[in-house]
Amino acid sequence: MRWQVNSDALVLGIETSCDETSAAVVRGGRQILSNVVATQDDLHAVFGGVVPEIASRRHTEVITLITDKALHQAQVSLAEIELLAVTHGPGLIGSLLVGVSAAKGYAAAMGTPLVGVNHLEAHVMSNFIAPPGQHPSAQQLFPTVCLLVSGGHTSLILMRQFGDYQSLGETRDDAAGEALDKAARLLELGYPGGPAIEQAAAQGDPQAVDLPRPRIKGSYDFSFAGLKTALARQVHKTHPETAQQVADLAASFQEAVVDTLVADLSAVIREHNAKQLIMAGGVAANQLLRRKLAEVAQPQGIPVAFPPLDLCTDNAAMVAAAGYLQAQRQGPSELDMDVFSSLPLSC
Ligand code: KG4
Ligand code: ZN
Repeated sequence: MRWQVNSDALVLGIETSCDETSAAVVRGGRQILSNVVATQDDLHAVFGGVVPEIASRRHTEVITLITDKALHQAQVSLAEIELLAVTHGPGLIGSLLVGVSAAKGYAAAMGTPLVGVNHLEAHVMSNFIAPPGQHPSAQQLFPTVCLLVSGGHTSLILMRQFGDYQSLGETRDDAAGEALDKAARLLELGYPGGPAIEQAAAQGDPQAVDLPRPRIKGSYDFSFAGLKTALARQVHKTHPETAQQVADLAASFQEAVVDTLVADLSAVIREHNAKQLIMAGGVAANQLLRRKLAEVAQPQGIPVAFPPLDLCTDNAAMVAAAGYLQAQRQGPSELDMDVFSSLPLSC
C-alpha cells in the first residue's frame, strides 16, 4: 500500500545544520503554526565565523527546549505530530547530528514517521509557506528560477515542480554570504557580515571604489574569491579609518556582489521560459539584491518573490514544509538515515 500523509498533517520540523537551533510546527506543508529560532550569533561573533564544536555543543544544550517551545506555541502535543522532518544535509556534521538524533529519538519514542530533508530544498520552500491567514510570497508557477544565496551556498536553480530541481550554476569558490562575511571581517564590521555590510553600505557611495564583477565565460557559475581579494587589496592600500571610508568600501563591495549575482538572470529566464523568479537563503534578506531582482523580472513580465525576512535565514518551518512534500512523494526515511556535509539538490 502507498504511504500517505494527510493534507492537513501536523509536521514538526527540526533544523540544526549550522548555527541556528530551530523547531517549527507546520500544518499541511504550508501553514506555519510556530517557528522558534535560537541564534548562536553571540557565541561565534568573537571568532568572526562559526566554530563547529561550539555550534554542536549549543545545539545539544537547547534542542529539547526549542522543540518544546515550538509545540507549546503551536498548542500541539508531541502525540499529535503526524510527521517529523529534519535537515540531514548539507551542513556541519556535528550540528546536523544533534537535530537528526533528536528527531530519531522522537520518532522512535512516539512511533512517528521521519523524513530527512535537504537544507537547500528547505530554503526554496521558504517562498511557499505562510502563517495562517497570510499568503506565501511565491505562486505555484513553474518553471520557476530560484537564486539560492546563503552563507554556504550560491546556486541558480531551475525548479520545474516541487521536488524537481536542476542546477544551472553554482559558485566555484566562496558562497555570496561567505564573501560578505569575509568582507565584513576585513572591514572590522562584525558578524554575521551580510547585515553588517548592508547597514554600513547605507551611508556609503557604491561608486566610490572600482571593484570587479567576476563572470565565468560560457557558464552560469559564480566566483567571488577574486572580488574578495580585490577588496583586501583596497583595504591594505588605503587603510580606511573613517566611518565614511569604511561605508564607501562596504557599499562598493555590496554593489559588486549583487551585480554579479543578477548578471545572468535575464538570460536564464529567457532560455528556460521561466514563469516566476524567486530567491532564497540568508542573503535574500538584502534589500539591494531584492530591488535588483525586481528590476530583472519586471521587463520580462514575470512575478518576483522573496521569503519574508524571518524565513530567509535558517529556520525549521521551511524544513517542515519540504519534509511534508517529500513524504508525499516518496514516503518516510529509514530510522538509520545518515547526515551529509554535502548533499546536491538536483539528482
Ligand atoms: O541561509 P543562512 O541563514 O545560512 C546558511 O544556510 O548558510 O545564511 C546566512 C548568510 C550569512 O552569510 C549572512 O551574512 C547572510 O546570510 N545574510 C545577509 C543578510 N542577512 C543575512 N547577507 C546580506 N544582507 C543581509 N541582510
Ligand atoms: Zn541555510
